[in-house]
Amino acid sequence: MNFEQLPEPLPDDPLKVLNAWVAEARDSGIYPNPDAMALSTVDQNGQPATRIVLCKQLVCDPGFVVFYTNYGSAKGEAIAGNTAVSAVFHWDSMNRQARIEGRATLSPTQESDDYFASRDRESQVGAWASAQSQVIQERSQLLRAMQAMQQRFAATAEIPRPAQWGGYRIWLSAVELWTRGEARLHDRARWQRTLGTVLSDGSYQPGDWQSCRLQP
Ligand SMILES: Cc1cc2nc3c(=O)[nH]c(=O)nc-3n(C[C@H](O)[C@H](O)[C@H](O)COP(=O)(O)O)c2cc1C
Repeated sequence: MNFEQLPEPLPDDPLKVLNAWVAEARDSGIYPNPDAMALSTVDQNGQPATRIVLCKQLVCDPGFVVFYTNYGSAKGEAIAGNTAVSAVFHWDSMNRQARIEGRATLSPTQESDDYFASRDRESQVGAWASAQSQVIQERSQLLRAMQAMQQRFAATAEIPRPAQWGGYRIWLSAVELWTRGEARLHDRARWQRTLGTVLSDGSYQPGDWQSCRLQP
């Protein structure tokens, strides 16, 4: 078996490599969700929680990834109190893992609007029907909510985005890439940079990436 090594010397920008990895996973056709990542948040009690979300965009410069969700969900509540998040991608058959860490901010509303408009109608109605992470007594309650929303929007050509649904940008402060190696001598490299403080428009002005190789 041929084992992949990370580039030597390490590139200045890990996000170009991560972008290529996501594209290669997509092109391979192996993965139903090549852009799936396990996202961890920490709630107000310090309790971490992890769930899969889809990485819908990776912007190398200035360096953030985007996912979409319900702002009132458990993850949304956690982020409202603590913007520190981490996530991990795993492409098992490609022997690759990518870990990311950073700070989550709300995507600009226009960006969320545009993405919501690109979704199929059923998903749009579903976003209105589901108060994600809230308790329901029985599943039929959700199906009734879905029917009610279908009726509400029956005559609406373009369904607007619900205010509680939208994107988050994860501004990346650390990236770690991993490839499987022979005899468990995997290849690992970590990039870190400072994010500074969040600006009034919700963006950061990150510093330069610093990289190092790590023992497996
Ligand atoms: C393959 C896969 C993709 C998913 N993508 C998303 C997503 O992009 N956004 C989202 O809110 N939930 C997504 N989910 C559901 C989440 O894992 C989770 O159940 C939901 O967001 C509620 O999480 P929370 O209660 O911790 O907020 C996905 C689940 C799977 C298995």
